[in-house]
Amino acid sequence: MEVIIADKSGYCFGIENAMKMVQDTIESGRQNIYTLGPISHNTQETRRLTNQGVVIIEDDDVDNLETGCIILRSHGVGKKTIEAIKKKGLPIINATCPFVRAVQKKVESYDVAGYQIVIVGNKNHPEVIGANGWCQNKALIINDINQLENIESYDRICIVAQTTIIESKFNEICDAIRSRVNEVVIFNTICSATAERQAAAAKTAKEVEYMIVIGGYHSSNTQKLADICKSHCAKTCHIETIRDLDLAEVRNYQKIGITAGASTPDWIVKEVLEGMEEQNKIAEENVVAEVATEE
Ligand code: F3S
Repeated sequence: MEVIIADKSGYCFGIENAMKMVQDTIESGRQNIYTLGPISHNTQETRRLTNQGVVIIEDDDVDNLETGCIILRSHGVGKKTIEAIKKKGLPIINATCPFVRAVQKKVESYDVAGYQIVIVGNKNHPEVIGANGWCQNKALIINDINQLENIESYDRICIVAQTTIIESKFNEICDAIRSRVNEVVIFNTICSATAERQAAAAKTAKEVEYMIVIGGYHSSNTQKLADICKSHCAKTCHIETIRDLDLAEVRNYQKIGITAGASTPDWIVKEVLEGMEEQNKIAEENVVAEVATEE
């Protein structure tokens, strides 16, 4: 059995960095470690961290804290949230992805300069909620070209993108705004990590008989990876952990591909690889046993 692991599978730079900061904080012996929202969208990893004492809180909980340190996740938070934590005198460990921080800085500086901010993205996504918090929540959040009603009433607009938005959608919305507004400044803040992971997964799915996509069932980037892989390899399965993998089915294939979502930790991928290695051994032993019986 040959196993091919797709390039760029698993943690992106920003998540890896954030997870390392959480782990370093735990190992430093600090007490009362809080994260604002779940640091990872992976249930198993979240459980692993909470078992080590990390507590997930929401913005409103900050007021009730007297001690402890607060870790900001890779999606970032609004300016007011940071100010509220500082006011309480609590230490902040800022794991905001540098690419997300770049979006926040653009939003803040162009808002101060008098531009109407447009964020192309999903209004419910924590990264977008956080970025909007750097212009007093005054941004227009556009996720569809049909949401541009009255856009011509603004003189000057600055457009940024949610880092994980699809580029064609961003370009379409930018073009429509540019044709209707006097002055438009555009920053394509899309992060290439998502597109690169998807392209690598598609490449691997085309080469194999069976494709395994590892990641949370509720993780939208993992679901998207599974859809892409299915379109190139009909035998694609989406699993959260080794326990979801049909190991007897795996033994039927010679060439198997693996990819993992952006929030899937290495240890979960490793468990799957070890499980498959085990199956490989069983399959090889069965072949030897069959040959011996024939002889
Ligand atoms: Fe950062 Fe890009 Fe990941 S913005 S959190 S490296 S998807």
